[in-house]
Amino acid sequence: MKISVTGLGKAGLPLAFVIADSGFEVIGIDIDEKRVELINNKKNPIPEEPGLLELIKKYSGNKFIATTDGINGIKNTQFHIVIVPLFIDKNNKPDFSILRSAFETVGKGLKKGDVVVLETTVPVGTTNGLVRNILEKESNLKAGEDFYLAYSPERIMTGYSISRYKEFPKIIGGINKISGEKALEVYNKFCSKVSLVSNEKTAEMIKISEGVYRDVNIALANELFKQCDYFGIDFEEMREGAKHPFCNILKAGIGVGGHCIPVYPWFLINEFESLNKRDFIELSKTGRKINDKMIDFWAEKIIEKAKKLGKPINEIKICIKGLSYRKGVKETAYTRSIPLIRKLESLGVDVYAYDELYSKEEIEKMNLKYSNPEECDLVFDCFNSLSL
Ligand SMILES: NC(=O)c1ccc[n+]([C@@H]2O[C@H](COP(=O)([O-])OP(=O)(O)OC[C@H]3O[C@@H](n4cnc5c(N)ncnc54)[C@H](O)[C@@H]3O)[C@@H](O)[C@H]2O)c1
Repeated sequence: MKISVTGLGKAGLPLAFVIADSGFEVIGIDIDEKRVELINNKKNPIPEEPGLLELIKKYSGNKFIATTDGINGIKNTQFHIVIVPLFIDKNNKPDFSILRSAFETVGKGLKKGDVVVLETTVPVGTTNGLVRNILEKESNLKAGEDFYLAYSPERIMTGYSISRYKEFPKIIGGINKISGEKALEVYNKFCSKVSLVSNEKTAEMIKISEGVYRDVNIALANELFKQCDYFGIDFEEMREGAKHPFCNILKAGIGVGGHCIPVYPWFLINEFESLNKRDFIELSKTGRKINDKMIDFWAEKIIEKAKKLGKPINEIKICIKGLSYRKGVKETAYTRSIPLIRKLESLGVDVYAYDELYSKEEIEKMNLKYSNPEECDLVFDCFNSLSL
């Protein structure tokens, strides 16, 4: 059996090489020609992922081949994993265009007996709805009978992806019993702790729930942080003091960024708002609001501190350090640092940006002013906001 992985990004590329490392032949499919060429030339497009370069050097060109020819890639493999991003638009509604185009390609190359597994985090009902419909339409085959369809959410974290795939528990749910079992049989060969859940819908909900859990717990930490700040109490001391088997308060910060946590609560919020069941999503919605509004709190704190420097506020150079959504990951998707900069600019402050992972040119391309932190009067580190 040969395996295809569609989407060679931060999640898909490490997975493709973990599979190759377990002995399978893998075809990696991506629409980005430069990325495909880079990987086929044994280069690593995700340097922040430990262990990935070694796997690329070992398997690229033999057990692993990357291609932009998706249809042929699917035709020449029997087990297909899709792991492309799903973004939300300005109104927080999911934009399915990437997912749709990826599955149109998979559907065009699909054969009788093939197994398809979606790993992207999606709203409940997507696998057995949108995905099934596209695959059946493009292939003229019947899901659950002619080909098998399952959902298995990735649970990686950039920087730890390879160990996560190898060691972290993973779940699978099929659109019917045989789909789940077929997917499980193969995943068991490259993941160590895989278990089957009742169906694909349960697996979709498990992954979204994990995101909502993190989001509301971070919101709680952020709210407690503001309260501690008001009382003049050291938040970290409070957090440590409150740590015991029944209480573990997370770290506070400037909000939540990245492709995942700030996105997933909206899958549920949209669903239940459209059904007019607003009381089903009050906590998830409040969590989102608290986390997003943390930049207002920090903008006020930064200006308060700047005013104490003894210069007119518009002459003070402020540096916002850390642009990516998480330290050590070169990714600005849904980062809160850039909205913080925009907020400060709107308040008439002279703001500069710095991130050790981005060059001056890359920062300026984001329409931001670059400066070394040493050349600024006040530095705010987004990865360590408590140091302000
Ligand atoms: N990066 C993480 O730490 C992380 C963590 C948890 C979950 N995830 C999830 O993984 C999923 C993928 O995210 P990512 O971080 O890998 O994204 P990414 O932006 O790093 O990569 C996505 C890749 O998909 C490719 N692509 C886009 N459209 C395509 C198409 N039609 N056919 C083939 N390839 C296509 C892009 O060229 C790109 O290489 C997301 O849904 C996210 O929820 C990511």
